[in-house]
Amino acid sequence: MQSFIHIESPNYLRTENLEKPADWQAIFGNNQPIALEIGCGIGDFIALTAAEHPETNFIAIDFYNKGCYKTCRRIDVQSLKNVRVLREEARQFIAERIPKSSLTAVYINCPDPWPKKKHRKRRLVNHAFMEFLQSYLVPGANFFFATDFDDYGIDVAGMMTGLDGFENILAPDLYRHEMEGYHLSKYMRKFMAEGKKIYFVHYRKTEET
Ligand SMILES: C[S@@+](CC[C@H](N)C(=O)[O-])C[C@H]1O[C@@H](n2cnc3c(N)ncnc32)[C@H](O)[C@@H]1O
Repeated sequence: MQSFIHIESPNYLRTENLEKPADWQAIFGNNQPIALEIGCGIGDFIALTAAEHPETNFIAIDFYNKGCYKTCRRIDVQSLKNVRVLREEARQFIAERIPKSSLTAVYINCPDPWPKKKHRKRRLVNHAFMEFLQSYLVPGANFFFATDFDDYGIDVAGMMTGLDGFENILAPDLYRHEMEGYHLSKYMRKFMAEGKKIYFVHYRKTEET
C-alpha cells in the first residue's frame, strides 16, 4: 500500500477550508479568469500551461495524493502564482466549490479509460457530465479533452456533436491527433512513445447559452 504524503505547500488548498462555492477571487487575490484541470496527475501539463498564461488562474485537481504532491512541488519550484492544487473528486468538487458560469476553460487529459465494457459507465466524460459541466462554464469557455484510448476519443467526439450549446473548434474534424500549442502531459508522452495516437477534442461553449 502506498503511504500517504503530507502536502505542505502554499498552493495546496484543503477543501474543508473553502466556502461553498469558494471565493476564488479572494483565494488568488485577483479577479483573473479561472480555468480547471481535472486529473492533473503529476502536474506537468498545468505547470507549462499556467506559466504560459499568467493572466489566467488555474485550479488543478486530482484525487491521487502523490500526484497532488508532485504537482505542488512543480508549482512551488517554478514559483507559479496562478495555480492552486486540491485533492478532490471532480464532480463533487465542481458542484460544491465552483460558482456557476465561472470557468473559462476545462482541461481533461488522459482520464482513466475504463477499458472493460462493463466498466465504461465509470468514465468521467459522457453526455451527463457535459450537461452538468455546462452551467459552470462562462459563455465562450473552452473545453479540451485528450485521450489515447480510441473508443473513448471517438465516443466523446461523437457525443459532443449532439450537445446543444457547444461549438466544435476543430470542425470539420471531430477530433485531431495533433493540437498545435497544446502542451503534452506525462501520459500523452508515454502513449505516444508506445506509438499510440492521441485524440484531441476542443469545443467552446456558445455565447448565447
Ligand atoms: C491516467 S491519469 C492522467 C494524468 C494526467 N492528466 C496525464 O495526462 O498525465 C488520470 C488521472 O485522473 C485522476 N482522476 C480520475 N478520475 C478523477 C476524478 N473523478 N476526479 C479527480 N481526479 C480523477 C486519477 O487520479 C489520475 O491521476
